[in-house]
Amino acid sequence: MHSILFITSCLAAYSAAAPVFSNFYDFSDDMAEFLGRVSQHINGLDGFLGSLSCDRSSITLPSFASGLPAPTGQHPLYVALGRGTQNYTCATSTADSEPEAIGAVARLYNATCSAANFPDLMELLPAIAYRMNLPANEYDPFPPTNMNLIGHHFFEGKVPVFDLDTTPSRQLGVAKVKKDADLDAPESAVQGGNGAVAWLYLSATDGTVGRFSSVYRVDTAGGGAPKTCEGMPESFAVQYAANYYIYGQ
Ligand SMILES: *[C@@H]1O[C@H](CO)[C@@H](O)[C@H](O)[C@H]1NC(C)=O
Ligand SMILES: *[C@@H]1O[C@H](CO)[C@@H](O)[C@H](O)[C@H]1NC(C)=O
Repeated sequence: MHSILFITSCLAAYSAAAPVFSNFYDFSDDMAEFLGRVSQHINGLDGFLGSLSCDRSSITLPSFASGLPAPTGQHPLYVALGRGTQNYTCATSTADSEPEAIGAVARLYNATCSAANFPDLMELLPAIAYRMNLPANEYDPFPPTNMNLIGHHFFEGKVPVFDLDTTPSRQLGVAKVKKDADLDAPESAVQGGNGAVAWLYLSATDGTVGRFSSVYRVDTAGGGAPKTCEGMPESFAVQYAANYYIYGQ
């Protein structure tokens, strides 16, 4: 009971604190570090909170995702915080051409239990992560809530891949997907320099290993390209973060 009260007051303090900052999302690295430590303490309570289970069936998409096809008949398997870059190319460096998306490269961190237990914190994760650099060592946990690496997101040609085989002993499968629907990110999204990339509904295609059926990209922060190629190099990368909700049959 005591620990549940503690968590509740931490979370309450956190959300109550938000409006105090003139621009909440421009917080410093110190603030990010502070939030990381708070979440580390919350995670540390896991041990004595036997009741804080990680019931994946309680995972739900953020309400704004209702603008995408529903995961009817599918079950939430994992939720991952993605942090990396969206990559683009430009045919010229003038206003006559537009950046073309050529893919993304991101690390995926295990946020499954946070999504099951603290759904209202989920939209803040990419907002915080966007402002933080990835750990130098690929296999170190990522500070916002000290999540462990659960996989990698990249493209094979034009095919988005979610590879959850991180180590020889952790083989969770590989989802190869195609885009079925998109939804402009809400205005409240962390825009970065050129806007937040769209929310997506991606469905599993040939080559998928494991029982994956779909992946939702939601709660996006940054990642958008400038409107035109004016002054841009031939290829460039834009920092982004997002939550990926991974469903299976
Ligand atoms: C994800 O993290 C939770 C603890 O927060 C753990 O119970 C679960 O096994 C992890 N899942 C994977 C696939 O690493
Ligand atoms: C995307 O950009 C990142 C960062 O510059 C780079 O490491 C990666 O190789 C690029 N990938 C592709 C497919 O362009």
